[in-house]
Amino acid sequence: MATQLPTTDIRIGADMIRRRKGGTPIVCLTAYTYPIARLLDPHVDLLLVGDSVAMVLHGHETTLGASLEMMIAHGQAVMRGSARACVVIDMPAGTYEDSAAQAVASARRIIGETGCQAVKLEGGVDVAAQIAAIVAAGIPVMGHIGLQPQSVEKDGGYKIKGRTDETVAALLADALAVEQAGAFSLVIEGTIETVAADITHRIAIPTIGIGASSECDGQILVIDDMVGLTVDRVPKFVKQYADLRSVIAHAAERYALEVRDREFPGRVHVFSKTSGGDEA
Ligand code: KIV
Repeated sequence: MATQLPTTDIRIGADMIRRRKGGTPIVCLTAYTYPIARLLDPHVDLLLVGDSVAMVLHGHETTLGASLEMMIAHGQAVMRGSARACVVIDMPAGTYEDSAAQAVASARRIIGETGCQAVKLEGGVDVAAQIAAIVAAGIPVMGHIGLQPQSVEKDGGYKIKGRTDETVAALLADALAVEQAGAFSLVIEGTIETVAADITHRIAIPTIGIGASSECDGQILVIDDMVGLTVDRVPKFVKQYADLRSVIAHAAERYALEVRDREFPGRVHVFSKTSGGDEA
């Protein structure tokens, strides 16, 4: 049974994040579930229900496995588990690229069914019309440029962006287009430090870096990468702050031994007619 979350009337909104430009770095992490949202909420400014959930929790090869229903279900869990953080939900591939009308309908569904503070979508110049339309519908948007996981098949892998004059110019054009379209913040993923610094200085909305250096206005990591739960390869830009895989593996190993040895359940875990009360 869930215990009550501490009540707070200061859920951080997209506007509050926007006003943090150039100030104390904005702390962001992904979250996909109720218990993790509860653990992270007191420590972060923003929780992103990233479409990385398709890979991290559902075992898909890429984020293209995410659906609107998947994002909404995880978004609802994260909203239930948080009281303070600004919650942003990713728009999955296939739910916004076709037209501004499609993008607005998908964003409205996400906001309407979860109550989250904002949506995020990938792209720059190519999705500026969609961002402008969602913002005009009263829904705050976070942009995402640079390495765009939804384009991994098109790009032939997870490639760092901004190593040639041409890609630097494209990144800057994307950043300016996202800002101009009215986004409240911009994720920059997988680019070189000087490019991230230049974009951060040129736009008036906060940049949130992932593999984009400390020159950004904030940072984000995938929670499972950060706590050492990720099963497959972790990107070079991740710092692992805990090793939960080995904690869980050791716990499972001990549990298996104790069950096989009939050591668990022990006397304290057993009910008799007279002991323990009615509560399980
Ligand atoms: O889906 C995701 O987790 C993301 C972050 C890596 C920014 O988009």
